Amino acid sequence: MILRWTKPLGVLSIAAALTLASFTVSPALSRVASEGRALYVANCASCHGQNLQGQPDWMRRLPNGRLPAPPHDETGHTWHHSDRQLFTIVRDGLASIAPGYETDMPAFAGVLTDAEITEILDYIKSTWPDRARAYQAARTEAYPS
Ligand code: HEC
Repeated sequence: MILRWTKPLGVLSIAAALTLASFTVSPALSRVASEGRALYVANCASCHGQNLQGQPDWMRRLPNGRLPAPPHDETGHTWHHSDRQLFTIVRDGLASIAPGYETDMPAFAGVLTDAEITEILDYIKSTWPDRARAYQAARTEAYPS
């Protein structure tokens, strides 16, 4: 599998995200997304925030050199990644993409099923404004595997 990262998961440009501020948030969550939300709260919110807001000052490295957990809302960069990249990050961890990379982000293989990971990602996507969703869908189409 070839993943085309422009740079290893550091801090990506937020300029595009800032231009999204005026877009409306998606309508009510679907049933699947609300199940995904419960799984998100149980497994991800301790680091990424109850409201997907990430850790404070998330672009500044911690004293140990690692990065804090970024937001999963439109102010972060989750929507810059294709479905395949997001799924792989969550299931197999960042080191599966960038060998040797040191991070506090756990791998969830053996903790969550593939279906549960997909539900969580569907929930996260359901909270994005249309423009972020469209951008991410285009990434998924461009990099299907
Ligand atoms: C123990 C804290 C912790 C938990 C729990 C956690 N994460 Fe993370 N996550 C992080 C950190 C820290 C990063 C930033 C990693 C880096 O770049 O070094 C990260 C990065 C990510 C990324 C890549 C950056 C991005 O926004 O695209 C995704 C996707 C992600 N996490 C999804 C999840 C999901 C989904 C869950 C729950 C199933 C979860 N994380 C649980 C700490 C955590």
